[in-house]
Amino acid sequence: MAKFRFLNTPFTIKNLALKNRLVMPPMCQYQATDGVPNDWHYVHYVSRAVGGAGLIIVEMTNVAPNGRISPRCLGLWNDEQRDGFKKIVDAVHAQGSKIAIQIAHAGRKALGTDDVVSASANGAYGGGVEADPRWGGYQEPRELSRAEIAQTVQAFQDAVRRAVEAGFDAIELHGAHGYLIHQFHAPKTNLRSDEYGENKFLFGEQVIAAARAVMPPEMPLLVRISAQEYGANGYDLAYGCEIAKHYAAAGADVIDVSGGGDDTPDAAHMPQIAAGYQVYLADAVKKATGLPVIAVGLLDDPAVADYVLGSGAADLVAVGRGLLRDPYWLLNAQYRQTAADAAPVQFVPDSYRRAFGV
Ligand SMILES: Cc1cc2nc3c(=O)[nH]c(=O)nc-3n(C[C@H](O)[C@H](O)[C@H](O)COP(=O)(O)O)c2cc1C
Repeated sequence: MAKFRFLNTPFTIKNLALKNRLVMPPMCQYQATDGVPNDWHYVHYVSRAVGGAGLIIVEMTNVAPNGRISPRCLGLWNDEQRDGFKKIVDAVHAQGSKIAIQIAHAGRKALGTDDVVSASANGAYGGGVEADPRWGGYQEPRELSRAEIAQTVQAFQDAVRRAVEAGFDAIELHGAHGYLIHQFHAPKTNLRSDEYGENKFLFGEQVIAAARAVMPPEMPLLVRISAQEYGANGYDLAYGCEIAKHYAAAGADVIDVSGGGDDTPDAAHMPQIAAGYQVYLADAVKKATGLPVIAVGLLDDPAVADYVLGSGAADLVAVGRGLLRDPYWLLNAQYRQTAADAAPVQFVPDSYRRAFGV
């Protein structure tokens, strides 16, 4: 079994010192009441810290009630929610892991609200995924006024300030998967004729600036983007790199590189789903921005994840569903290596090579 050379190496960005390169990416749990974290979230996140993940990113946590993709999603629009996170943050720290939180607004993909908003009123989200029947279907959004855009930027800032107060080590802004920031920078969902339409990156840049203003300067800001849209008429990777460059200039320290979420996936506009299927996106964004990047997407084979790190395409690897299935993903990967080291002498690589003449 190939030695993992990179997964277990430390990585530092600003004052965030990670013990290894494994990231648990944000994954909605739909278990909150009134946006407040509870015992489920505590067990869920702390068990991944026990399993050794270097960085845990708490799921999409929303800046307003109408920014949730279900009424059971987490929020940070009040102090009770903030205080609920402190216990989780402290327990993750006690295990030697670092913890960030993904701050978001769903925009036109919100469910369970009668006030669905977006950059433009451009029809209900199609998506190809059935909305959960408990929370109603996707609705046509109404266009945010300029005053409401300013209020939304303020809501992002207030949520980030609360996350800092709760003790998080880093902030991630959700600019991916067809949610509000993505809706503003995507030409097919931003049909505005004001300054937010003329400069499609303006809203995201304002959110980044607002976040930075309430973060300690040495705390890293991560921004997750879809570097390529996967639906018909979606933007391409070159445009995704432009988004990343704008957000890097606005203050992002790390780009968390995902894809899609904009619409019903179209085979002609997306990669084939296989191991490491989005690594090429991370590689391109890293080259375009010069910033550290996180790669994600079917990296659950530790050897593949290690290879991606070694190739230089990404600085950190996120393992989502793999960590849902196995909180001890990294520990088990290490255990399998040790077990391989202890294999009978007949199986060691040298004997193998001789036996098969390679
Ligand atoms: C149950 C579930 C919930 C998710 N929720 C979020 C989320 O809150 N925010 C986000 O940016 N991505 C979310 N994702 C996407 C993951 O972060 C990740 O990018 C995706 O699962 C691909 O990685 P994987 O192949 O390692 O699972 C979710 C994925 C799953 C499976």
